[in-house]
Amino acid sequence: MERVVYSDNAATTPISKNVYNAMLPYLTTGYGNPSSLYSLAREEKKALDQARAYTAECLNCSPDEIIFTSGGSEADNLALKGLLFARGFSKEKKQIITSTIEHHAILHTCEFLERIGYEVTYIGVDGEGHIKMDELEQAISDKTALVSIMAANNEIGTIQDLKAIADLCHKKGTLFHTDAVQAVGHMHIDVKEMGIDMLSLSAHKIRGPKGVGALYCRKGIHLEPLIHGGGQENGKRSGTENVAGIVGLGEAMRYAHEHMDEYLPYVARLRDRLIEGVCKIPYTQLTGDPVNRLPGTASFVIECIEGESLVLRLDLAGIASSTGSACSTGSLDPSHVLMAIGLPHEIAHGSLRVTLGEQNTEEDVDYLIEKITYVVKTLRDMSPVWDEKMSGEPMLKLFDK
Ligand SMILES: Cc1ncc(COP(=O)(O)O)c(C=O)c1O
Repeated sequence: MERVVYSDNAATTPISKNVYNAMLPYLTTGYGNPSSLYSLAREEKKALDQARAYTAECLNCSPDEIIFTSGGSEADNLALKGLLFARGFSKEKKQIITSTIEHHAILHTCEFLERIGYEVTYIGVDGEGHIKMDELEQAISDKTALVSIMAANNEIGTIQDLKAIADLCHKKGTLFHTDAVQAVGHMHIDVKEMGIDMLSLSAHKIRGPKGVGALYCRKGIHLEPLIHGGGQENGKRSGTENVAGIVGLGEAMRYAHEHMDEYLPYVARLRDRLIEGVCKIPYTQLTGDPVNRLPGTASFVIECIEGESLVLRLDLAGIASSTGSACSTGSLDPSHVLMAIGLPHEIAHGSLRVTLGEQNTEEDVDYLIEKITYVVKTLRDMSPVWDEKMSGEPMLKLFDK
């Protein structure tokens, strides 16, 4: 293999050296239970406090507004179910409003809530993946308990106007949660300034370990815990703390807070170089907002190829990337996000997501462009659909709004 290029950073990121070094003592000598009274355990308690402080600083909230969880999925579940369960079935506010392009951690939680009697309203998006604000405004009513809209999309990278959504929610008297799993560490987030009431994040998207995350929950919002037990996390999430994992999350947040202004422009430059190169392939288009998008996310639809075949062929060239269409899952449906932005089925099947991080280089990007261009040509050369297209059919125009 000529080269190995990891370019699936939206799926997960490699643990950084500083995170690894911070965690190591808590996987070896620092094994005390933070709830115990002896000095060994006091070190662990101090480490948890420090991680909480770093996380809070990065979001501009108070440390006691942070609840550590087992990841982004649990944080999302806690925000939605915790809020509704705390209010009880008898209460008036039985509706959640979310969007059609959320991660399954939100969508499947909503489906469950619908099954047990809550109401869920799904707001649509425009061709670039922005929430339709007029639809949202109309949907919020007296029965709305919470609006949950993701900060940035994991497939197409579009960033929402969080402040505008929060302002609208508050004007109409409801709370606002955002799934910021893809956004934290990849853009500046200030929960106070933006008016966010609850926010989910996950360590493994920012070069921290897997299996740890957090929910920011503004003081005064009452949540019913999903995990009952010893009363850790201020009674909101029981279970002996994953000390090493939480320390890793804290260190990843500290690093993001202190270095974001250096690495974000660097990663965005790599992304733009990649977009420019890949969009030179005929019948290829960028998906998502071309400007307000995550710095590392380059997502495309490439006509007359199958996304899964492209990803598997790129893998043979040492490249890790992803697609929204996965036939191996047993479903031939393309991604719900690509459908929600209005792409026709046949175009959505040819999706490619390449997500870069600060560990990637210009040489990686040039290699990606070269191999993607080559593999697309190879696949098209074998494709009867491509032959048909080349015999004079007009180009399909995407994103007609
Ligand atoms: C937007 C979004 N929300 C939630 C999650 C789930 O996070 P975790 O893997 O930490 O459970 C992900 C993971 O891909 C995500 O991209």
